[in-house]
Formats: sequence, structure tokens, C-alpha cells
Amino acid sequence: MAQAFSRRSVLALKLLFIAAFLLIVAAIAAARWYSGPDVKVGQPVTQPIPFSHKHHAGDDGIDCRYCHASVEKSAFAGLPSTRICLTCHSQLYRDSPLLAPLHASARDNTPIRWNRVHDLPDFVYFDHSIHVNKGVACVECHGRIDQMPLTWREASLEMQWCLQCHRNAQQHIRPLSEVFSMADRQPLSPQETARLARQYRLQDTRRLTDCSTCHR
Ligand code: HEC
Ligand code: HEC
Ligand code: HEC
Ligand code: HEC
Ligand code: HEC
Repeated sequence: MAQAFSRRSVLALKLLFIAAFLLIVAAIAAARWYSGPDVKVGQPVTQPIPFSHKHHAGDDGIDCRYCHASVEKSAFAGLPSTRICLTCHSQLYRDSPLLAPLHASARDNTPIRWNRVHDLPDFVYFDHSIHVNKGVACVECHGRIDQMPLTWREASLEMQWCLQCHRNAQQHIRPLSEVFSMADRQPLSPQETARLARQYRLQDTRRLTDCSTCHR
């Protein structure tokens, strides 16, 4: 029987397969590298400065908005600038080696590059102000931040996690005065829940679970 392929073309085919395989591996590696290291639920994320919410928000009772100033006004909560840290640390613990990167950042006028703890894919639309102004507390989504020596993620951020709450939004709201409180949600009577839902003009479940609500 005559050979269907010459030895040369067999070799070329093999090389082609190897090249295609390597290309796929490289593409996956590049995608993973591009999206940064995986952050796992419950695993503290290391930072250029070991910033502790336990010290600052818990023990010292500094309000979240002091450092996350836009959380009520915009989609993004925002992260504090070097200047905000220096309002206290230009005096306090000035010579602590832990704060050397802070002083370097001020000297060189370059922002500190905090590693992200939460990062939704770009095709998901999320907005802090909507949630915060309708009585969804930080602790509902971020857990006991005030007890974290290094910040970790409490929620999976998977689609099902968002949907679980959106299907039952009324059960996750509290009075606006308690949005920044780290305490458990106080059980509300059905009348109080209904009153809050009216005050916030909560939309119906159908709207909140509609694909276009989060993918727009
Ligand atoms: C003194 C400043 C300060 C205060 C007060 C503060 N934070 Fe932060 N927060 C930071 C800094 C700095 C980071 C970035 C480093 C890190 O992730 O730990 C951060 C990160 C976070 C993150 C993770 C951000 C990400 O990368 O996804 C969350 C969530 C958060 N803070 C919530 C809160 C809440 C809730 C409060 C109030 C209970 C609060 N913070 C109070 C300074 C502060
Ligand atoms: C309102 C004042 C205030 C602000 C603003 C503030 N801190 Fe602090 N920081 C403190 C206090 C008070 C302590 C001591 C905490 C303790 O031990 O309970 C501290 C301790 C620290 C420590 C530990 C120092 C050591 O040697 O043990 C680090 C690191 C730190 N802060 C980083 C930061 C960073 C980064 C920012 C800005 C995102 C910041 N702080 C903003 C008041 C502040
Ligand atoms: C309904 C859930 C939810 C609530 C309530 C919530 N967050 Fe978040 N937060 C998220 C999600 C989801 C992200 C990731 C957003 C992204 O990757 O675009 C995030 C990210 C952050 C970040 C990182 C910076 C940013 O804006 O992406 C900070 C800081 C933060 N939240 C602070 C807060 C504070 C402070 C409160 C309370 C006032 C709060 N969050 C309430 C879900 C929530
Ligand atoms: C703990 C409860 C809770 C979680 C978790 C939650 N949400 Fe919400 N979300 C709400 C409430 C309450 C509203 C306000 C509903 C209203 O306006 O009627 C809302 C409103 C929204 C809106 C605005 C809807 C509109 O068109 O007005 C968007 C967008 C949204 N959420 C996205 C998300 C995404 C994306 C996630 C997950 C990453 C998420 N939410 C997780 C409770 C939650
Ligand atoms: C309340 C917000 C919300 C609604 C409503 C929503 N999604 Fe999502 N969706 C998300 C989030 C958050 C992710 C990212 C999940 C992740 O990164 O793991 C996501 C991811 C996806 C993905 C990527 C695959 C995956 O599972 O990660 C697809 C496809 C998708 N959504 C389709 C839909 C469709 C179709 C609908 C309507 C039936 C819908 N989504 C409604 C929040 C939502």
C-alpha cells in the first residue's frame, strides 16, 4: 500500500500539533497571569503594608467612610490615599519599619499598590451606592471586616451568591442608620420589613434576577 503521507509531512504535522498544544497552554497561562493570582474565600491576602482592619476599624473604631469615602456615592468604594494614612502616621508609629513603604510612597509620590481582595469580571455590573442606600450593610457581603488582621474575602462572588440575595432582598435590608454596623442584622417584624421596603422602593424579584440587571 502506498504511503498516504510522506515522512516529511508526518513530521510537519507532528510539529504542528505540538505547536498548537503549546499555544493553548501559553494562552491559559497568560489569561491566569493577567487576571492575577487566585484569591480564595477566607484566605488573607498579603499586602505591601500589613494593614489591619481589626486595629483600625475594630479597636480604634475608625468609620469605614474615612478610608472608603465614595462607598455611598458611587459604584466603587474606593481605597484610601497615602495622605489619609499620613493624617495619623506622620506622627504615630512614624519609625515603624512596617510603615516604610508608606513614607516611600509619599516621598516618591507613587500610590501604594494594594492587592485586590475582590475583583468581579468586567462583564458584571456592580454598584456599591445602590446597595448601601437601600439598607444592605457592609457586613452582609464582607463579613466581620472589623475582626480581620489582614483582609480576606467572605463571599464567593459567584452569580448564585448575588442571586440568592436578590431573590429574597427584603430579608437582607436594615435601617440606614445600621448600614455601617458590624453587628448581626436585628430581626424585623413583617410590618417593619414592609415599611423599609416601601421606603427604599425595593423592586420586585423578577427585575432583580433579570440578566440585564447585572449584565448590561
Ligand atoms: C484607616 C483606613 C481604613 C478604614 C477605617 C477601613 N478600611 Fe477597608 N481598607 C483599607 C485599606 C488600606 C485597604 C486595602 C488593603 C486591604 O485589602 O486590607 C482596605 C480594603 C478593604 C476591603 C477589600 C478591598 C478589596 O481589595 O477588595 C474591604 C471589603 C474593606 N476594606 C471594607 C471596609 C469596611 C467594611 C470598613 C468599616 C468597617 C473599612 N474597610 C474600614 C483601609 C481602611
Ligand atoms: C485615625 C488615625 C489612623 C489612620 C488614618 C491610620 N492609622 Fe494606622 N494606626 C493607627 C493606630 C492608633 C495604630 C495602633 C493600632 C493598635 O495597635 O491598636 C495604627 C497602627 C498601624 C500599623 C501597625 C504599626 C506597627 O508598627 O505596629 C500599620 C502598619 C498601620 N497602622 C497602617 C496604616 C495605613 C496603611 C493607613 C492608611 C490606609 C493607616 N494606618 C491609617 C491610627 C491610624
Ligand atoms: C451587596 C454586597 C456588598 C455590600 C453591601 C458592600 N460591598 Fe463592598 N464589594 C462588593 C463586591 C461585589 C466588590 C467587588 C467589586 C468589583 O470587583 O468591581 C466589593 C469591593 C469593595 C472594595 C474594593 C474597592 C471597590 O470599590 O471595588 C471596598 C473597599 C469595599 N467593597 C468596601 C465596602 C464597604 C465599606 C461597604 C459598606 C459601606 C461595602 N463594601 C458594602 C460587595 C459589597
Ligand atoms: C445581601 C444582599 C445582596 C447581595 C449579596 C447582592 N445584592 Fe445586589 N441588590 C440588593 C438590594 C437590596 C438591591 C436594591 C434593590 C432595589 O433597588 O429594589 C440590589 C440592587 C442591585 C442592582 C441594581 C438593580 C437596579 O437595576 O436598580 C445591581 C446592578 C446589583 N444589585 C448587582 C449585584 C451583584 C452583581 C451582586 C453580586 C456580586 C449583588 N448585587 C449582590 C441586595 C444584594
Ligand atoms: C444579581 C446579579 C446577576 C444576575 C441577575 C445574573 N448574573 Fe450572570 N453573573 C453574575 C456574576 C457576579 C457572575 C460572575 C461569576 C464568577 O465570576 O464566578 C456572572 C457570570 C455569568 C456568566 C459567566 C459564566 C459563569 O457562570 O461564571 C454567564 C454566562 C452569565 N452570568 C449569564 C447570566 C444569565 C443568562 C442571566 C439571566 C438568567 C444572569 N447571568 C443573571 C451576576 C448576575
